[in-house]
Amino acid sequence: AAAPVPAKDDFFGCLVKAIPARLLYAKSSPDFPTVLAQTIRNSRWSSPQNVKPLYIITPTNASHIQSAVVCGRRHAVRLRVRSGGHDYEGLSYRSERPEEFAVVDLNKMRAVSVDIKARTAWVDSGAQLGELYYTIAKNSPVLAFPAGVCPTIGVGGNFAGGGFGMLLRKYGIAAENVIDVKVVDANGKLLDKSSMSADHFWAVRGGGGESFGIVVSWQVNLLPVPPTVTVFQIPKTVREGAVELVNKWQLVGPALPDDLMIRIIAMGDTAKFEGMYLGTCKTLTPLMSSKFPELGMNASHCNEMPWIKSVPFIHLGKQATLFDLLNRNNTFRPFGEYKSDYVYQPVPKTVLAQIFVWLVKPGAGIIIMDPYGAAISATPEAATPFPHRKGVLFNIQYVNYWFDEAAGAAPLQWSKDMYKFMEPYVSKNPRQAYANYRDIDLGRNEVVNDISTYASGKVWGEKYFKGNFQRLAITKGKVDPQDYFRNEQSIPPLLEK
Ligand code: FDA
Repeated sequence: AAAPVPAKDDFFGCLVKAIPARLLYAKSSPDFPTVLAQTIRNSRWSSPQNVKPLYIITPTNASHIQSAVVCGRRHAVRLRVRSGGHDYEGLSYRSERPEEFAVVDLNKMRAVSVDIKARTAWVDSGAQLGELYYTIAKNSPVLAFPAGVCPTIGVGGNFAGGGFGMLLRKYGIAAENVIDVKVVDANGKLLDKSSMSADHFWAVRGGGGESFGIVVSWQVNLLPVPPTVTVFQIPKTVREGAVELVNKWQLVGPALPDDLMIRIIAMGDTAKFEGMYLGTCKTLTPLMSSKFPELGMNASHCNEMPWIKSVPFIHLGKQATLFDLLNRNNTFRPFGEYKSDYVYQPVPKTVLAQIFVWLVKPGAGIIIMDPYGAAISATPEAATPFPHRKGVLFNIQYVNYWFDEAAGAAPLQWSKDMYKFMEPYVSKNPRQAYANYRDIDLGRNEVVNDISTYASGKVWGEKYFKGNFQRLAITKGKVDPQDYFRNEQSIPPLLEK
């Protein structure tokens, strides 16, 4: 066997003193491409022209993360952190500009421990949402947690940027149900709620990933759900009255009782009304007949199941099983482009009709509309960094997929044009967007004297965070004034004079 190579006084040499070598991957290592690709969900960011990390660090405990920060600071290597890798712009593992950075990939840190008596759980950032949901349900069929719909999303990124799914009207976003965190800060210190400032604790729960340190784990409140929930999916084509139904829905959806969520997935000439009700078919059908009779929902549409089964059902359809919640090898990795909007005033019916024309144009994507109201709209705007609250009727997500790299021109153009078309009908000054639906077209930080500037951050930052952006920047100025943790859309430090 070759003699051990003495550690050099460089970043890697520093790492190997504190972290077992089997957890470190240099760019030259044969496993590096596989480890990097493991959780790249948007194939646009797999291609060779993307700026890749020099190293990938796969810690198994918090002290490894602390060492990575200490070594990174000492040797001027930045860290990007990746949990589930679902970032739409890939900023957890690629840089737009040439930059020396390493990725701290948390996929080996995914413990979930439930305290059933206290109705709380600790979950590591590297767990995927499905693992959290599964473990909660294994402990109790009548407890749940309100985070994203897709089970492969990482806890780390989802909670950091807000996190919402089918329970948003009942319980709001994931971040507002977080009661404690463990975070490694820009000095390599491990903090929790009791040792960090109140502003720092506020900022990590919804202020977006990367900016405020590496969140190792999150303590969350588990929330009650009934033993049986009811799911329905009712597709309606334009000929079957989709335009009138969407028109009615935009007023009804946000005003329904908090235990009923009906979202719309519009694709081609069809609007699919997808509902989840926290209760049985027997109480749902009269509710639907009184609030939204036009949809024609009846008992034949009901699918009753425990809450945990509704997660794979909604994500993958009837045939999905609980094991789909644990599957980490999802092979669905399209090329993707995503944008989002918030709607406060009902969209005119003529415009809704035009949207269905857009949806059959060349390069057309899908439009997902999530109704707000109830719990998500009741929380004050400043309570968490996530500001999309009172008065929001619904969130729109424009999703566009393609499967052949060369086929991107039409979908990219469609997304741009569709977004432009919607401008008059959505929120203004700023035109709001959801931080977790990251869109680099909203703006990029400029870096001056090695610090991201507040002015450049404000451009995209107020769209994601409205009036909370400034408080986030001031907090960043206090916890990471040298802007160590950064990416193209991280919160810039605002230093108070
Ligand atoms: P990833 O690891 O790429 O991280 C995202 C960002 O957070 C990066 O900037 C990263 O550096 C940072 N970060 C990650 N871990 C961190 C940590 N431990 N500490 C600090 N920063 C960290 N959203 C939603 O709310 N509801 C939904 O239903 C869906 N659905 C959905 C479906 C699909 C298929 C995709 C691809 C995405 C979604 N999303 C979503 C958006 C999703 O919530 C968003 O992309 C999250 O940031 C992804 O978190 P990951 O940990 O997977 O991403």
